Amino acid sequence: MCGIIGFSGVRKVPASLIMEGLKRLEYRGYDSAGIAWQVHSKIRIRKCAGKVDKLWEALPANLELRSGIAHTRWATHGAPTDTNAHPHTDSPQRIAVVHNGVIDNYRALKRMLESNGHRFTTETDTEVLAHLIAEQLNGSIEEAICRALREVEGTYGIAVIHAGEPDKIVAARRGSPLIVGIGEEGSFIASDAVAMVGRAERIVHLEDGDIAVISGKDHEIRRASGGIATISDWSRLDIPPTVADKAGYPHYMLKEIMEQPEALEDCFRGRVQREFGTARLGGLNMMPRDFLEIDRVRLLGCGTSYMASCVGARMISDLARIETTAEYAPEHRHSNPIVRKSALFFAVSQSGETTDTIMALREVMRKGGKVLGIVNRVASTIARETGAGIYVHAGFEYAVASTKTMLNTMMGLFLFGLLVGRMRDLSLARGRELIDAVSELPDKIRQILAMRDEFRSVAEHFSGSENFYFLGRGYSYPVAMEGALKLKEIAYVHAEGYSAAEMKHGPIALIDETFASVFVIPRDSVYERTLTNLQEIRARKGPVLTITTGETDDLESLSDRILVLPQTDEILLPFLTTVAVQLFAYEFAAQRGCPIDQPKNLAKSVTVE
Ligand code: G6P
Repeated sequence: MCGIIGFSGVRKVPASLIMEGLKRLEYRGYDSAGIAWQVHSKIRIRKCAGKVDKLWEALPANLELRSGIAHTRWATHGAPTDTNAHPHTDSPQRIAVVHNGVIDNYRALKRMLESNGHRFTTETDTEVLAHLIAEQLNGSIEEAICRALREVEGTYGIAVIHAGEPDKIVAARRGSPLIVGIGEEGSFIASDAVAMVGRAERIVHLEDGDIAVISGKDHEIRRASGGIATISDWSRLDIPPTVADKAGYPHYMLKEIMEQPEALEDCFRGRVQREFGTARLGGLNMMPRDFLEIDRVRLLGCGTSYMASCVGARMISDLARIETTAEYAPEHRHSNPIVRKSALFFAVSQSGETTDTIMALREVMRKGGKVLGIVNRVASTIARETGAGIYVHAGFEYAVASTKTMLNTMMGLFLFGLLVGRMRDLSLARGRELIDAVSELPDKIRQILAMRDEFRSVAEHFSGSENFYFLGRGYSYPVAMEGALKLKEIAYVHAEGYSAAEMKHGPIALIDETFASVFVIPRDSVYERTLTNLQEIRARKGPVLTITTGETDDLESLSDRILVLPQTDEILLPFLTTVAVQLFAYEFAAQRGCPIDQPKNLAKSVTVE
């Protein structure tokens, strides 16, 4: 699982063309990396454990090539070693394969191939593919691939080269994203369009079962549905070349935290209708009557998208008075889900490529349920498969730890709640009041971002702590969970998010003078109750960081440090408190010198189950 780029040129190009693309994919996996290319009908390979830069240094000086396939890995089968890095080959090295996904029946295939005399050198499932294709080779490489894939169970996005067919690259997809691109210098295959930025002009997304063959500027995409891709399948690659710039910030994560005021505005501008106190969400493709029939909403997502869903579920329940719940997508899928005609499902995903979420939405659709997408990446698999939904318009998010997409996803869900609420019990006056409060959010977020020095000093104060609870109630409970997730992800300390109310039913057992608590306790309807919970921690000598709004009189004696945020409507508080927990986690990790943009064991987009 990870990043793939393949290039076939009209003439020789410096290897940097592929390596720059691979570098842009590094956010999808950075355990190890590798590249294969052809020289005089022979395949050459370089691969190593570690980052793309290490691979780049290992390449022959001034290497030029007409074509090649490259890969950056996030290990599933086999440790991240030089040997297990992709590309993988058959024994005589006639075939080289890079692969995203998991081959479920690789053990059975391996046994079969071994009995036919094949010898394996790695622990990966991918190596089986190279041998399987070699076994079927009796004509063109694409025919061999088609025959081999008939025996494969599991998911894949693959790019393959054959020593006997110079400059031809064949790609195939089942469950793992692949995109074909074409530009001045030749054709590309990549698992993410960002790899081709500045190079490809037009792109086409492969669907499951498609096979693409590229060679120089020639390309042929054989659709699983029959026939060849036509001009109408192609679209312009619209990611700006500056996408991979850090804009002077030390980390993408900080850049993306700082982008949040503008990103959030991009999500609600043009969608809120103050005159009617409501929102317009054209992408839902639903008639007013359809909304009246909904009696249950389920939000399915993973990681930070799940956290945003937990906040969004409360918002929709509050605004629209529809029972709304958030669930981890894979848990929902495997719970034999109840799918009713009157229920509406949302697949919530930044990338639109998370396999757990895709599988969950397919299960619901298979049962006849209605699923919409809440997605950041335009034309991603979830956006295409749902065919309707809400794009959250956060812009490109590069850091593995999701930040601006969390805010924009919450906004997408808020707008949905506002829209449906205004069709039910929410008054025009309340709708307008909320829209006015929403339009003030970007400035209030700017005020929080301007407090960066204070966050840094607070992070320094707690830098010795190895254990944290993040505690909150009501809207602050999912924000607390997100704060704990962020700290775990980028700072590698033990952090747990809990309802501040639930804490006394068990977790409090761990509290002593070394176990820190971050209280998300803005002035809201559960403030007094949360204050009681804070006192319970304080009585047991637990160090406390308080994130609040408004007056701090009653918090001073109960907190080691206090961060005071601007106030807003209770339902919108997560847009401010989330920024605070992000910034705290960032400054904490920065002080510890953690590799913030490439946290160990994580990948931006997890395309395996
Ligand atoms: C991975 C990332 C998380 C992300 C999650 C869901 O685990 O490391 O940061 O929140 O996937 O990703 P999605 O693209 O579906 O929102």
